[in-house]
Amino acid sequence: MSECKRIFVTGGCGFIGSNFIHYALAERSDIEIRNFDNLTYAGNLENLADVESDARYSFVKGDIADRRAVEAALEGGFDAVINFAAETHVDRSILDAGDFIRTNVLGTQVLLEAARSAGMVRFVQISTDEVYGSLGATGLFTEETPLAPNSPYSASKAAADLVARSYFRTFGLPVMVTRCSNNFGPYQFPEKLIPLFVTNALAERKLPLYGDGMNVRDWIYVDDHSSAIMAVLEGGRAGEVYNIGGGNERSNVEITRAILGILGKDESLIEFVRDRPGHDRRYAIDSSKIERELGWRPAHTFDDALEATVRWYVEHEDWWRRVRSGEYMEYYQKQYGER
Ligand code: NAD
Ligand code: TYD
Repeated sequence: MSECKRIFVTGGCGFIGSNFIHYALAERSDIEIRNFDNLTYAGNLENLADVESDARYSFVKGDIADRRAVEAALEGGFDAVINFAAETHVDRSILDAGDFIRTNVLGTQVLLEAARSAGMVRFVQISTDEVYGSLGATGLFTEETPLAPNSPYSASKAAADLVARSYFRTFGLPVMVTRCSNNFGPYQFPEKLIPLFVTNALAERKLPLYGDGMNVRDWIYVDDHSSAIMAVLEGGRAGEVYNIGGGNERSNVEITRAILGILGKDESLIEFVRDRPGHDRRYAIDSSKIERELGWRPAHTFDDALEATVRWYVEHEDWWRRVRSGEYMEYYQKQYGER
């Protein structure tokens, strides 16, 4: 077990980062977190409004690819970095890959270098199962599956993943890489499948299913991802990769029907549209390594977690309407002024 009390979290204003910060502050009374985030369209300070006055939490606005900004924000000393910051949406990476390479690859290298200079004891790189590419009808991704990314997003994450590995092999920085499957839960930007379809259905808008709708993802509730990251931070072995999955393979059509069922909406809202280029057919994760080594298990069932998630969007219409319209920047300016 490593003693990691002062944690430098990047990308904490996004979906998984903000859920992780909530989780960590609730689960560990002696932890301190600095959240370093550039507040892109996907970063929303409102997600953390309830912890802003917690003395264990601080926020610094900045870009992970900006070495000086990173070094300044690390002032005071930290034990570990958990790097969530990234450009994350596959469709956006198909339209313009530039920011993906800059943030995901260069930004990760800047953080690794800063952690090395500061002599940190842990660096958790939040990677993704998408680095493995696409599976056929059978089989699971293990940590030994060769990397074969198919989108500019997954290619940039694979590159970052390998740069992280090199900082362990070359410099001995205690890096761990996690590769998790598709997350869902509160505070997910409504461009990803589940929040997009829930919020579209609520607004009586069409749900655009790509291709034949039979692509399969292995879904995990975001709190289960958070508990896995905590297990890796505290007990993971340096230089290792850990797969994380919920064991919930579902096709996109199944997910869509389940959402419509929970909301009591009609299936005529479904619209089959042109397929995403390079669309990975199936992801499925073998999580036996993290289960065996760190005793981690997902605590949530898929059906209950999906229902709770859909309800969350129903009850937080103000949140998703503001996020969709970009109005949350007004909230930021009110809290922090123009910076
Ligand atoms: P997100 O898009 O919701 O949030 C990304 C956050 O990073 C935002 O707060 C954004 O402002 C910040 N950011 C972007 N560029 C930055 C920069 N240059 N400097 C500082 N901050 C910057 O993403 P998410 O879904 O929460 O994903 C978080 C991490 O988890 C990513 O690394 C992603 O690759 C990985 N991941 C996501 C999933 C998933 O299903 N969402 C699954 C596996 C792994
Ligand atoms: P997404 O949430 O973008 O995650 P990822 O591509 O990283 O797995 O998409 C999940 C699945 O849903 C994927 O197979 C693409 C599909 N999808 C649609 O069919 N329609 C949509 O509008 C979106 C955003 C995704």
